[in-house]
Amino acid sequence: MRPLNPQDITRSVLASLADTPDERLREIMGSLVRHLHAFAQDVKLSEAEWFAGIDFLTRCGHITDEKRQEFILLSDTLGLSMLTVALNQDKPAGCTEATVFGPFHVEDAPHVERGGDVAQGAKGTPCWVRGRVLGLKGEPVAGAKLDVWQSDEEGLYDVQRPGLGRAQARGVVQTDDQGRFDFRSIVAVPYAIPHDGPVGQMLQATGRHPWRPAHLHFMVQAPGYETLITHVFRADSDYLESDAVFGVRPSLVCDWLEQDDGSFLLEFDFVLNATPPA
Ligand code: BEZ
Ligand code: FE
Repeated sequence: MRPLNPQDITRSVLASLADTPDERLREIMGSLVRHLHAFAQDVKLSEAEWFAGIDFLTRCGHITDEKRQEFILLSDTLGLSMLTVALNQDKPAGCTEATVFGPFHVEDAPHVERGGDVAQGAKGTPCWVRGRVLGLKGEPVAGAKLDVWQSDEEGLYDVQRPGLGRAQARGVVQTDDQGRFDFRSIVAVPYAIPHDGPVGQMLQATGRHPWRPAHLHFMVQAPGYETLITHVFRADSDYLESDAVFGVRPSLVCDWLEQDDGSFLLEFDFVLNATPPA
């Protein structure tokens, strides 16, 4: 029998995929196998290291449930989430840039009237948030839905407080006929992403920290426009240069202005890309 030859193994696996009926799946699986095998050869992966990798992924699976998504955290901290965002951003210049979605969005957040309070009892310094949703030609986008979510002053999202049982620091607001929105919330602070699991161990082992700069999440949706998933970051925040999930874009960094009464004001306009005509 011939000695085991790495190239033969790669070739055999690729050949086994040749009849994959879905062309795109065949392309993705083939590329995955080629890169995975090249990686193992590149680092000359030992069997103990291979097992450590399997054990790591197993632990990611065990800690994952409907509230905790360790695989998304892994993708985020390896920059894969942000790379995927970047690869799918072919918007014209002038549109607001997108960034990572993160694991803390919740469907069906409560609707909040114009000028209303998104914080709903979440602790933090009051912050007024207002701006406009516009199209690329400067046209106001009336009736746009802005899904907003953020952590409280302790750096926790409502879903990270098991006893809470209701929405806090999240809500859905709508623009008026001039494309304006206006709501009250709390000032965002930097916070650490969940790091009590395998991804936290990976960060520690590689000398990295788990912190994200202060930000407010937005998902902006309007008929006739592409949905925008993004954040607005605080210009005076720590970690803008070392976001644990690589999500900062300079165009999304903005001054949150302290007012005489100690509250803050964030003003930001979103520019949406029109969906191409069918
Ligand atoms: C967030 O901003 O909510 C987030 C993003 C990626 C990983 C963890 C949290
Ligand atoms: Fe966040």
